[in-house]
This record gives sequence, structure tokens and C-alpha cells, in this order.
Amino acid sequence: MTSRRNFIKTTGLGMIAGVIPSSLVELSFAGDGEDFTFAYISDAHIQHIRGNQFVRSWDEGLIRAVTETNSLKPEPDFVVFGGDLAQLGSRPELDHGAEILSGLNYRTHMVMGEHDYYLDLGDYWRELFGPEHYSFDHKGVHFVVLNSILTHDDWTFNRWSTAQRRMLEMAGLDNPNGSPFMVGETQRLWLKQDLDKVGRDTPIVVLSHSPLQKIHRAWNFWTDDAEQVQEILRPFRKVNVIYGHVHQIQYNQVGNIAFNSMMATAWPWPYPGSYSMENSHLPVMTVPMTRDDPFNEREGTGWQLMNVHSGRADIHYRFHSRNDRAVVFDHRSNQPVDTGYQKRVKVTV
Ligand SMILES: [Fe+2]
Ligand SMILES: [Fe+2]
Repeated sequence: MTSRRNFIKTTGLGMIAGVIPSSLVELSFAGDGEDFTFAYISDAHIQHIRGNQFVRSWDEGLIRAVTETNSLKPEPDFVVFGGDLAQLGSRPELDHGAEILSGLNYRTHMVMGEHDYYLDLGDYWRELFGPEHYSFDHKGVHFVVLNSILTHDDWTFNRWSTAQRRMLEMAGLDNPNGSPFMVGETQRLWLKQDLDKVGRDTPIVVLSHSPLQKIHRAWNFWTDDAEQVQEILRPFRKVNVIYGHVHQIQYNQVGNIAFNSMMATAWPWPYPGSYSMENSHLPVMTVPMTRDDPFNEREGTGWQLMNVHSGRADIHYRFHSRNDRAVVFDHRSNQPVDTGYQKRVKVTV
């Protein structure tokens, strides 16, 4: 198992670990002999009030992440924004978010979130940022971006009388009128074709907004066609799925695929007690989401380092105001383990 000391030594990022408390993630790879890092910022939820007024806690979270990303040394090769830039998908929210993100000194790859999508079905987001599914190669790693928050056509096109109503229904965390997310057949066919050109030993990183696994349906921490997407990824030896949406730390291993969630810049969600009541594929959570001061909007947010030298991810989470936390891949049990809290966890797959 990789110790923290080894981890920092191998990533060469120990110098910055103590000085940048932000809501972002860096990842380092040893592709074909060349490590690199990228930053990950997610779930800003920019919310418009009126005129040029926005909910300050949310836009300040994103401004802070952008500022701190620009100060990273070594500089990341690029940035990923993991979705939910807006709260209710409006042009002022997306414009304001895009304006803040334009302050980044790096190329930024965008992922679509449901809060960006369900007002105009992604039209304005695509106008600002381009396609919602695409792939690119970087230093020996194949990256795939998917729009994982689509749902049934009947729900999207027929059920609601107005676009605003549709947006509000999908924006609720535990609203029974919401609908499970899915990647959908069109993108699954595209993904298969895209990966047909990629060698089986090439490390694959899939960036989605919702988890490409089934965790907690009541909160839509869930992608309905997850198994079908996992099947397309199965032939590859080193697959990492990185997602936002859940605003909390999650990690899991399903066969060849390591799953890791990233924290939000806006607010943390707690671990619902009902996780233990679901037939969840997630390891048993032995500690609740820690949030000492719910009135501190930065509490429970933080940043993360990821090391996938072995094709398996070791993640080092830095919190804004608490002790570090590490999720390290344990090669004996073949699953990620939260080294500080969970020594050995039974996987309920
Ligand atoms: Fe979100
Ligand atoms: Fe989301």
C-alpha cells in the first residue's frame, strides 16, 4: 500500500500540499514515463437572484477555486470542470460562471451537469462551451467526457408544461418527480466506437457528472444504464471514473473500474443514513460526512490529489479546516480503502 510519504514523493507535489486549501483536485499519471497533473473543480451552482446579484457563497466558492488553481506549482496541464456550473440553468448563471472560469490560466474541459441542462436541454451551455461528449488524449492517457444526466424522452419532452418546471423538478435533491439519469444509447454507441481505437493497456479516465454506478436512487446518486457503460469499459485494464454531483467523498471498485467522486465548491451533501438501507454497491460508510460548522459554507469542501501510477487511484484529500484524509488502493483486497477510518471494508457488490 502506498504511504502518504511515498505518495507525495512519487507525485512530487509535497511542496504545495500545505498551502492551497481549495476545492479542486490534481491528478498525476505516469503515462509513458511522463507524469502530469490536472486540476478538477466541480459543482459551483452559481445562483442568480436578480439583476447582477448572485448568491455570494456559491460564486465566491468558484472564484476562490479559480484563483487557487492559477497559483498551483507545478502548473496543471489543464482543468476539468465537473458540471453544475449553474443552479437553474439560466443564461445569467451560465454567463456568470463562464466569466469566472475564463479567469483560469489553463485550457478547461467542461462536463455537463443536470443543473446546467434541464432548462433549455443544454443549448446555451453548448453555445458557450462546445460538445457535451467528446474524448481527447493526453500524455498516454485517453480521456472521455460523457453527458451522464440525460433521462427518458417522455419525462424530458412530454411530462412538464414549461421548461422552468422541468428544471425545478430535476434540481431537487430528493424530489420523487425527478427521473433517473442515464448516458443513453446514442452516447453508449459513440463510446464503444471511440474506445475501439484505443489499446487495452492505455489508461482510461472517464469524466462524468453523475456516478456511473448505482449508489443512492432517492437522491439520484445513480445512473440507470451504469452497468451497460461499465460493460463497454470492461476490456481495459486501467479505468478510472471521476465524477462530481454528489458533493462528498465516495470511492468504490467495480471489477476493473475505480470510482472516485470529487468535492463541490458550493456545499457538501451529508452521507444519508439510508445508504445502509439501500442495496448499494458502495462500501459501507463507517463515518458520517464530517461537517462541524454547518454555517461555514466552506466546511466539508476541499481539494484532492490523485495518483494513478499503477492504473489504480490513490487520492489524497485536503480539507479546508480539518485533518487530511486519504483513499488509497489496497492491492491485497483489490479495492480503495479509506486508510484513516476504514481498515478493511466489505464490498457489497
Ligand atoms: Fe451539484
Ligand atoms: Fe448534479
